[in-house]
Amino acid sequence: MKKRIIKIFDTTLRDGEQSPGASLDAEEKVEIAVQLEKMKVDVIEAGFSISSPGDFHSVELVAKNVKNSAVAALARSIQKDIDAAYESLKKAVSPRIHVFLATSKIHREYKLKKAQEEILKLAVDAVRYAKKKVPDVQFSPEDASRTELVFLARVVEAVIDAGATTVNIPDTVGYSIPEEFGGIIRYLMENVSNIDKAVIAVHCHNDLGLAVANSLAAIRAGAGQVECTVNGIGERAGNASLEEIVMGIKTRKDFFEGVMTNIDSTMILKTSKLVSRLTNIFVQPNKAIVGSNAFAHESGIHQDGILKKRETYEIIDPREVGFSESKLVLGKHSGRHAFREHVEKLGFRLPEEKIEKAFEGFKSLADKKKTVYDEDIIAIVEDEIGNVPEIFHLEYLSVTSGSRPNIPTATVKVRKDKDVYQDAACGDGPVDATYKAIERISGIQVELVDYSIKSVTRGKDALGEVSLKVRSPRGSIFTGRGTSTDIIEASAQAFINALNKIVSYEKEKTKRKTSPKL
Ligand code: KIV
Ligand code: ZN
Repeated sequence: MKKRIIKIFDTTLRDGEQSPGASLDAEEKVEIAVQLEKMKVDVIEAGFSISSPGDFHSVELVAKNVKNSAVAALARSIQKDIDAAYESLKKAVSPRIHVFLATSKIHREYKLKKAQEEILKLAVDAVRYAKKKVPDVQFSPEDASRTELVFLARVVEAVIDAGATTVNIPDTVGYSIPEEFGGIIRYLMENVSNIDKAVIAVHCHNDLGLAVANSLAAIRAGAGQVECTVNGIGERAGNASLEEIVMGIKTRKDFFEGVMTNIDSTMILKTSKLVSRLTNIFVQPNKAIVGSNAFAHESGIHQDGILKKRETYEIIDPREVGFSESKLVLGKHSGRHAFREHVEKLGFRLPEEKIEKAFEGFKSLADKKKTVYDEDIIAIVEDEIGNVPEIFHLEYLSVTSGSRPNIPTATVKVRKDKDVYQDAACGDGPVDATYKAIERISGIQVELVDYSIKSVTRGKDALGEVSLKVRSPRGSIFTGRGTSTDIIEASAQAFINALNKIVSYEKEKTKRKTSPKL
C-alpha cells in the first residue's frame, strides 16, 4: 500500500489569533509554538510580520525557538511585506514565506480593482521576489473557491513556474461544500501541467460548519497539506480544526488508505488546553475530540455497553488523544451497572440490597440536580451504610416563610408503616415550624441541642447536608443527618433520622426486655 504523508500546517498563531477576542503576546506564542513542535506539526505559521511590530517580534521569537518544524510568515504580494516576513524569519532553521493575493471576481473587481492579467503578474512577481530570499515559498490565491476554475488553474501553474513549492487553495469565506471543494482540487490535479512540482494545500474556513469535511474531501482528491488551527479557532466561525482532521484520517483508515500525518495525537488534548487557556477561548463541552464531553457517556444503555466493550459507543480510544480514560457521567439516564462500578471506584463495597437503595436515592437526586458529583454519591452511600430502619418517612413538605408580619408555617406529611399523617405548625423560622409539625405527628418531643448545615457539593444546586443532635424525652442524645438540594428538606430528613434512631433504639431495648433510660 502506498504511504501518503499529509503535512499539517498549523495557523493557530496567525489565522487562529484573528479570532475576535484572541490576542497572544510573543511569549505566549512561543509557548504554543513549542507545544506544536512537540506535537510534530510540519509547518507553524507564526504571524503576519508586517501587520504590527508585536507580530514581527513574535515571528522572530518563534523562529528562534522552533527547530524541528518549518516556520512560516504571511505576506501580501507586496515587496515590503515579503521583506518584513523574510527579516522576521532570519533565525528560523526552515523558514517559509507565505504570499497571498485574492483571485476571485468579487475581490478583483471590488477590493483590488484589478483585471485577471494584472493579478496574475502580481502573483508571479511576488513569488519570484520571495524565492530570491528563501527556497520555501507558499502562494495562496485568496478566495480560491469562488475563483473561475480556468483562471485559478492559470494562476496555480504560473506561481509554480515562478518557484512556489506549495500552492494553497483557500476556501476563504467557508462557502464550499465537500463534493465541490474536492472537485476543485481534482480539477487542478488534472489540468495544471506542472502540478507535480509543488504540494497542493488547502485552507478551509468554517462558516457553514464544513471546514473539516472540505479539508478531508480535498485530501481524498490529492491535497498534500492541510492548514488548520487547534480547537478550530480563527477568523469568524474559525478554521478547520487540527484535531478533527488528524483523528478523521487516523480513525477512517478505510477511507484514507495509506494516508497519515506526522502528528503525535497523544499531545492533542494538552495542546488544546494550552491554546484555550492562553487565548481565553473556551472549548465547548461537545466539541469533537477535545471537548470535555467527547468521551463522556451518560445514558444507562451506553454506559452498560462501554463497560462491556468500549468500542460499542466509542470510535476513538480516549488515550489516543491524551484523555486518561472514558468518563461515565452519573446522571438521570445512568443505570445500575455504571452506578455500582462508580461506587466501587470510590472505595465502597455494598451488598446488593444497599446498592439498590443507594441507586434509588441517586436516581431521585439526579432528577433534581443537573450534575451529580462524587461528593453527592458519597453522601448517598454513607446514608445507606449508616442505615436505620425507616419508621417515619418524610412524604411531603411545604413551607411558607418571609419577613414579618409573615409567620413561618410548615405543612408536613409523614408515613409510618402504611399510614400517612399530616399536620401543620408555625414556628420562629421555617426549620422550627417544620420540626414542630413533625413532633406533633410523631408524638415525640425532643430538644434540639445542635444544628449545622454545610454544602457537601459544588454549584448552585449543591447538596446541603444537615447534621443535628437532639435530646430524647429520656435525656439521651441522638444524632441525625439528612441531605437534599433543599436545605429545609435536608433539615426535616435529619430530624426524622434522629427520631427513627430514638424509636428503633427503644424497640431494640424492649425486645431484650430491658428498660432503657431514653
Ligand atoms: O482565509 C484565507 O484565505 C487566508 C489566506 C491568507 C491564506 O487566511
Ligand atoms: Zn484564513
